[in-house]
Amino acid sequence: MLTSMLSDAETPLATPSGRFGISLGDLGKSRGLEIGCAFSGHTDPEYRLLLAHHCRLIVPEWQLKPRFLRPRRAAAYNFGPSDAIAGFAASNKMALHGHTLFWHEEPIRWARSENVERVKRDYGGFIRDVVEHYSQAVSWDVFNEIVGERQPLRDEFFVQTFGLQFIDHCLRITQEHAPSARLVINDYNLECGTDWSLAKQDHMLRLLEQIKAIGSPLHAVGIQGHLSSIHKASAPSTMRFIDRLADLGLDVFISELDVNDSTMPADIAVRDIEVAAYYEEFLTAVLSRQSVKRLVFWGISDFDHWVVRRQTREKRRSGKARPALFDDQFRPKPAFQAVTRALEGAPRR
Ligand code: XIL
Repeated sequence: MLTSMLSDAETPLATPSGRFGISLGDLGKSRGLEIGCAFSGHTDPEYRLLLAHHCRLIVPEWQLKPRFLRPRRAAAYNFGPSDAIAGFAASNKMALHGHTLFWHEEPIRWARSENVERVKRDYGGFIRDVVEHYSQAVSWDVFNEIVGERQPLRDEFFVQTFGLQFIDHCLRITQEHAPSARLVINDYNLECGTDWSLAKQDHMLRLLEQIKAIGSPLHAVGIQGHLSSIHKASAPSTMRFIDRLADLGLDVFISELDVNDSTMPADIAVRDIEVAAYYEEFLTAVLSRQSVKRLVFWGISDFDHWVVRRQTREKRRSGKARPALFDDQFRPKPAFQAVTRALEGAPRR
């Protein structure tokens, strides 16, 4: 265990070779894939070593969400926590992905108005301030989860009030102030095979066709990949969807990959194997498409993972959640070997 508490701005972490297995970042790079992870800024030095060993890109897990950054119009931007994460990424020569400039669960309600010019000014000003503060970001989730399942767009104030005009404005403002960043629309439940997931794919494709038709800047779609043990992901359905996105000239980022093991067996050895098989089946399928350019895990270790935190609060039959590639002592699980196999088998892009 490292005793020194490495600050975010200190020299890059020298990761002992072999301790954490083959670097997923190096393996991904050999396939032309960016490998990344969401990070909450946790200061544990071993955890930071694990991230530095495997990841070439970092995504602030919740510190770059709109309401977290500026909860009130009069509030100063709360850039401290995200600056610390950006400092960790820079110290370890990792790219930074900005998540997210719009999310219904963390809205900036102070920017709401029935007057479209006022919304353009206030929401546009928020985007300008944030993307200029993180000019190093290589990409931005401009929108997170704006597509509906039972209706084309999510039932949310800005999207329902101004529709495509708002969406276009946010994309153009982002490009204006972050001209070299790739712009992304990110969403979940696009990978299941259920009727409502297929409907959501269609709603996303309709929106993307409209966005392309008016010339809004957009480069990629984020398929979050929160794989559920209740609504199993469908590899064929996801591959067909990725192909239709490619027909629109859009890359795909698998943007928040993890496996929710809540309905899997309580026996840890059995559950870990089931989780590993799920990662391997899904990744082998989606990485067969060369338009998939990025793979981000929404937590690389059970040590600091949103599924573990959330389900610790809920009563679970199967004991503590084990969604990640490494356990809570940073030991590789079968899922790590499974992801390594899927990356080794992936074609170069
Ligand atoms: C989650 C974070 O992981 C949690 O720590 C936070 O409390 C809530 O948000 N889809 C998303 C992410 O796009 O922004 C969410 O992140 C997980 C679901």
